[in-house]
Amino acid sequence: MKDYLPLIIITIIIACSKPKENDEEPILNEAKKFFSPLPDTFQSQDNPITKQKVELGKMLFFERRLSVNNMVSCATCHAIEYYYSSPAPKQMGALELQPRNAQTVLNAAGQFVQHWVGNRKDVEDQAFKSLTGRAAFGNPSEEEVVNKLKKIPQYVELFKKAFPNERDPLTAENIAKAIGAFERVLITPSRFDKFLKGDKKALTEQEKKGLKTFIEVGCVVCHNGVLVGGNTYQKFGIFEPYWKYTKSDSIDEGRYVVTKKDEDKYVFKVPSLRNVVMTPPYFHDGSVESLE
Ligand code: HEC
Ligand code: HEC
Repeated sequence: MKDYLPLIIITIIIACSKPKENDEEPILNEAKKFFSPLPDTFQSQDNPITKQKVELGKMLFFERRLSVNNMVSCATCHAIEYYYSSPAPKQMGALELQPRNAQTVLNAAGQFVQHWVGNRKDVEDQAFKSLTGRAAFGNPSEEEVVNKLKKIPQYVELFKKAFPNERDPLTAENIAKAIGAFERVLITPSRFDKFLKGDKKALTEQEKKGLKTFIEVGCVVCHNGVLVGGNTYQKFGIFEPYWKYTKSDSIDEGRYVVTKKDEDKYVFKVPSLRNVVMTPPYFHDGSVESLE
């Protein structure tokens, strides 16, 4: 045993110093354990994506006549110039101020639930309910908005084409399905995806360092998967109340408002960090201005 000791020590030294020679390999392998590249579309069995649906959905996304006062469209709060999000901490709808910060709709269809507190099942459910939500569009009923669109011949035609073989294609459900299909193709692959697919040069050295730190300090425990988040709920403020740090002016009880269970107090969906640089302000109430 004594004779082998120097050999063992040398072997250990070599094993430990190996990553230094080829620094990019380990971080790529490490990253692949936690993240996956974006798919081309986020498919849904209940709402198969077709070209006609996506085109109609896109028109509807920018259609102000969906709102009670003809002033508000989805794009009012999810504006292209702000990466389909809103620069205001909280945005005004047709009738009321929104209760939380508007996230980006880009890649949102890939999340396990929608909204900060997960009170919408998927993008179709979200679109359906926002039509009659007082805060966003303010329509008194589904019929109100359906009847309005039925008076526009162009929409009657487009719904027929997008939902062939349906006796009554222009319904609130189909408005939501068309918008949902559009959202299911709003996907933004980046250099990060190229990197994950094996192109080691796709990220700069600085970015790789940041990625390494992100993994080492534990951000990755909650922000992981295809969307770097968007796949679990977590308590915001594990060691201390979150508002001590965000300086929020009102306190949101998070998922507790949906479930009324004590363990859900201050629990929020972990947001996706895709395009996060482009979508300030941050957190559910937009209380923090910058990523730093
Ligand atoms: C008046 C502003 C407003 C309008 C209009 C609006 N939204 Fe939103 N949207 C918000 C806010 C605020 C949230 C966050 C709500 C929450 O989490 O409680 C949100 C959340 C979402 C989400 C969830 C994103 C995520 O990461 O969970 C999707 C998807 C979405 N909106 C799509 C739409 C679509 C589609 C329309 C049009 C049918 C629409 N929105 C109209 C303000 C708006
Ligand atoms: C214990 C789980 C957890 C860990 C660990 C974690 N986060 Fe988060 N993160 C969350 C939750 C939950 C939110 C949403 C909080 C809210 O707004 O209510 C969030 C929000 C964010 C946001 C705001 C995104 C937006 O769109 O508003 C950023 C940026 C962020 N985290 C980055 C990080 C970084 C960087 C780290 C590591 C230093 C990290 N997170 C570690 C759970 C976590």
